[in-house]
Amino acid sequence: MDIKFAKMGAAKGAIVLQVIKNKLGKEAKNTDKHSKGALAHALKIASGFEGKNGEAISTTCQHLEADIAVLAGYDAKDSKDQKAFGGKVFDVLKGLKVKNATIVVEGDDAEAAANIALGAKLKSYSFDKYFTKKKPSEKLQLKDITIMFGESAKAKKAYADLAAQADAVFFTRDLVSEPSNVLYPDSYAKRIKALEKTSGLKVTVLGEKQMEKLGMGSLLCVGQGSEKESKLVVMEWNGGKKGEKPVAFVGKGVTFDTGGISIKPSIGMEDMKYDMGGSATVVGTMKLLAERKAKVNAVGVVGLVENMPSGNAIKPGDVVTSMSGQTIAVLNTDAEGRLVLADALWYTQSKFKPKFMVNLATLTGAINVALGSARCGLFSNNDELSERLYKSGVKTGDEVWRLPIGPEYDSHIDSEIADMQNIGLYGEAGSITAAQFLHRHVNDVPWAHLDIAAVCWADRVQDTTPKGARGFGVALLNDLVKEHYEK
Ligand code: BES
Ligand code: ZN
Ligand code: ZN
Repeated sequence: MDIKFAKMGAAKGAIVLQVIKNKLGKEAKNTDKHSKGALAHALKIASGFEGKNGEAISTTCQHLEADIAVLAGYDAKDSKDQKAFGGKVFDVLKGLKVKNATIVVEGDDAEAAANIALGAKLKSYSFDKYFTKKKPSEKLQLKDITIMFGESAKAKKAYADLAAQADAVFFTRDLVSEPSNVLYPDSYAKRIKALEKTSGLKVTVLGEKQMEKLGMGSLLCVGQGSEKESKLVVMEWNGGKKGEKPVAFVGKGVTFDTGGISIKPSIGMEDMKYDMGGSATVVGTMKLLAERKAKVNAVGVVGLVENMPSGNAIKPGDVVTSMSGQTIAVLNTDAEGRLVLADALWYTQSKFKPKFMVNLATLTGAINVALGSARCGLFSNNDELSERLYKSGVKTGDEVWRLPIGPEYDSHIDSEIADMQNIGLYGEAGSITAAQFLHRHVNDVPWAHLDIAAVCWADRVQDTTPKGARGFGVALLNDLVKEHYEK
């Protein structure tokens, strides 16, 4: 579905008019005059209509070029509300099965108009490549939405940046949605490599031999039971000053998590195709930074592995040595994400000496118990980085909530046979002890870990996301970079 911009004028198909504080907006009133008061009348008889943000009624209209009018409550205090309005209006238009629609945006806030467009665009995502039998009537009819706005050129310009963001979010959602027989470490690495040509990223792929040489015993043990070769993919974007330290993003890319020998129950195991969600956010973010030619040096590192049981798989109690030189007793092969990240983080900080590292991972089921799907968990050794992530989260809607790490939790992961073990105490602080484990593989560099296990996949529709992959974190990290590291 395309987004277009136009100056005030006549609209074809469906016309969406804003109702502000239960009254037709100025432009809406104008349209109502042409329609000889039919819209005001429709509003009057809709007695249950409260005018909440995105709440809408639709009515046929006479004397207008448009066939149908949608009266939509608009009550936006910030960019999050503006996007939500766009998303909700999209759903109404989808339901009306019209081909073309126009949203008339009141006032002179071009950013708001662009945000409404972004919300609608983000909500229009679908992953339908595997349907072969959908009838045309089951497909989305809506071809385009025109944002009608006084200073349309300004709104169009403001949207240009946001359109690149939507592209990157869609790219991430596509990766997350792919089944694991299609997206596995090697095929995934190839998709990332293809970005070299299209976006200007530099992409390096390391295979198992190279990782063995680097001593990545922790990452490698996870893929040991799989037929698929593990990969580490490094993306570099150098848009900043030469020699300036990069910002770094690190992602968990478990393309399928069966749990390994500590195998998961079969109910819901299919969800574990999205256990590479952290890596997909890193890839989408790097693509966006490159495509919008961000004035920053940035590096993205993703550890791609498949966690399978087999005769060659790692077994509970086995001890491995990570790149940091520390030994790990693997007591539960299903706590594999931290094993992947341990080496990916150590590699990133040693090789690139970054300004900071943010890692993202669908790491623990426990984070859903703590925070649900409204916010992801944030764990960090740095208050400034945490504060910045918090603010970018509020602004973009990819919200984070900080939880503690600290020496109090070290005893949970101290092992009787090695430097540490990969699980904590049963039923206690599962997300925190996972973060504490990661912290042991980070030296002095400012670092934040985002546990996105509960926000990566939406089980129900949300304001700007249909059911399914959210693309959580792309807008967040992009805003973090834009606000603080491009000056
Ligand atoms: N990939 C899972 C975490 C997860 C759960 C992601 C639900 C998305 C949705 C992770 O590898 C895992 O299995 N964690 C275990 C850790 C436990 C064995 C200490 C968990 O959370 O149960
Ligand atoms: Zn697991
Ligand atoms: Zn996992």
